[in-house]
Order: sequence, then structure tokens, then C-alpha cells
Amino acid sequence: MSYFRSIFLTLSESKRLRAFAETSPLARRISRRFVAGTTLADVITVVKETNRLGISVTMDALGENVNTEDEARQAGKLYHEMLEKIALLKLDANVSLKLTQMGMDLGNGIAESIVAELAQHAAACQSFVRVDMEGSIYTQETIDMVERLHAPPELRGSVGIVVQAYLRRTEQDVDHLLAQGIRMRLCKGAYSEPETVAFPLKADVDRNYVKLAKKLITSGIFHGLATHDEAIIAEMKQFAKAERIDPQSFEFQMLYGIRGDLQEALVKEGYRVRVYVPFGSEWYPYFMRRLAERPANALFLAKHMFR
Ligand code: FDA
Repeated sequence: MSYFRSIFLTLSESKRLRAFAETSPLARRISRRFVAGTTLADVITVVKETNRLGISVTMDALGENVNTEDEARQAGKLYHEMLEKIALLKLDANVSLKLTQMGMDLGNGIAESIVAELAQHAAACQSFVRVDMEGSIYTQETIDMVERLHAPPELRGSVGIVVQAYLRRTEQDVDHLLAQGIRMRLCKGAYSEPETVAFPLKADVDRNYVKLAKKLITSGIFHGLATHDEAIIAEMKQFAKAERIDPQSFEFQMLYGIRGDLQEALVKEGYRVRVYVPFGSEWYPYFMRRLAERPANALFLAKHMFR
């Protein structure tokens, strides 16, 4: 892992910096580069604008690693409100959540019961719940939980998972999840992981990404390819054409605030695109992971601070 990336990923876990940043008006303004705002109304405005461009959305209410059951239930409640708005306003959107935000660290089946209710709500309004993937200490538990959530026939296809190409284990996980018909979002992976667990070289991560992406889009199940990597996107487009894969049978996914030009170009070419739009006051760890991905983002931050 590069020195730069590891510094920002370490800072993303600092509780003190987080407390300072999330209460600072200047920092909050800067966070708008990647975060739609702090309220549900803010994110709905962005969803509508994005939908007008022919781009679907997945909404994320920021938050991770809650400390009490009450906090987890509050997070669940907000997600029910999001699903209600999606149905009421007929938004082209679904939701993404983190299991640690729903109380996975607290045990006692709290997260599973909250997410099961959300999946039922999503199924009832033809929407979908995507379970994000967090650091590797959570991988197995996340997979096990999503498998159980997906098992009842009425919830099949209403809940899906994220897999990370940087993990050495992911190819096996993909095969296992495909056998159960679970929808996946493939990403490269955004956390700090040891070499025993994740490929340290970007070239290996990229190679694994392409290999897994090909497996996913030939599986007959609808999956999401989450990346802004133009070379990988070009390779997947070429592969889909050569294999006569319907461009509507999968989607490209990108993050709010990153490569809007590419998102719109893909839609014009006839591909499906979904943008991950986060909102909320707990934006610090998410924002820092975005800075870690690209040195230019840290320059952007520095420029704003000095201005
Ligand atoms: P890569 O990092 O190689 O970047 C390729 C190019 O994209 C860069 O050269 C640059 O042009 C552009 N780019 C990438 N990141 C940028 C940034 N922050 N700012 C500006 N430009 C940038 N991770 C995870 O561990 N669990 C998860 O659940 C998810 N969920 C998720 C959903 C969606 C929709 C996306 C797009 C991504 C995630 N991720 C994630 C994050 C993912 O793992 C990864 O960290 C980022 O997508 C960056 O990787 P790229 O695939 O874009 O490639």
C-alpha cells in the first residue's frame, strides 16, 4: 500500500480528528465535494437531479460502528424513511447500508433483525438493500448474514452484497455467492488491510477485478461493477460486446462527486449507471477514504483550507 494511502486511511480512524471535523462548518462545507448534504431533503434533491440525467442512485445514510442498540435502531428508522421516500416520489433509487451502522458489533442479532425488516420493506416497494463491505474483520460475518437474509423466497433479489477485488479470498466468495443467486457489487476495496489478506500491488487488484467482473456479467444475475477506472471500464465494455452481453443486464456504479463526465458518457452509450450518494453528519471516515484514493483530492482539501 502506498505511504500516502496508508496515512489517510489511518487518519480516517482518528476519533479526535473526526469529532473536530464533523462539527467544523468549514470542514462540513469541504465535505460537500463527496457528500450530498446532511439531511434527507438534501439527498433527495441530488437524487432527482441525478435521475434527470438518466442515472440511477443508491442512497447511503452515513454512519458506521454504532455503540448502542438505540443508535442502531435510529439508523434503521432513517433507512425506512428513505425507502418510503423512494416509493412515494417514485425515485429511481435503492439504498446502501453498513452492518456496523445497524449494530453488528453489538451482537444479539440486532443488525440482522434491523436489516431483515429493511429488506422486507424494500421488497414491498420493489426497491433493494445493498449491504456494503467493510474491513476484512467483518467479511465472513457479512457474507453469512446476507446469505441468511437472502434465503426466504420473498426476499430473494431484494438484498445484495459488496465484494472487494483486493481481498485474496474474494474469488471463492464470488463463486459461493453466485451459487445462491445473490446480487453483488464488485469494488476494489477501500480499507487498510495486511498483505496476508489483500493484494498489496495495484496491478494485482486490477487484474483480479477484471477477472471477477467477467465472471459476474456472464452469470445471468444482475450485478454492479463499481469503479471509476477508465481502462477497466473500457475492457468490460469490449468484453460485453464480444460476448454479446446485453448492456442492460448489469450496471456501472460510481461515487457521487467523482467522474460525472464518465457517468453521463456511459448513459449516452446505452449502459446503465448508478451513483452512490451519501448524506448525513457522520461524513468524516467516508470522506477520508475518498482522500486516500487520490493524492489530487488532498490537494483539493489543502487549497480550500488555505483559501
Ligand atoms: P482506482 O482507485 O484505481 O481509481 C481509478 C481512477 O478513478 C483514478 O485514477 C481517478 O481518476 C478516479 N478516482 C478513483 N477514486 C477517486 C477519488 N476518491 N476521487 C477522485 N477520483 C477518483 N469500497 C469498499 O471497501 N466497500 C464498499 O462497500 C464500497 N462501495 C462502493 C460503492 C461504489 C458505487 C463505488 C464506486 C465504490 C465503492 N467502494 C467501496 C470504494 C472502492 O473500493 C474504491 O476504493 C474506489 O471506488 C476507488 O477505486 P476505483 O475502482 O475507482 O479505482
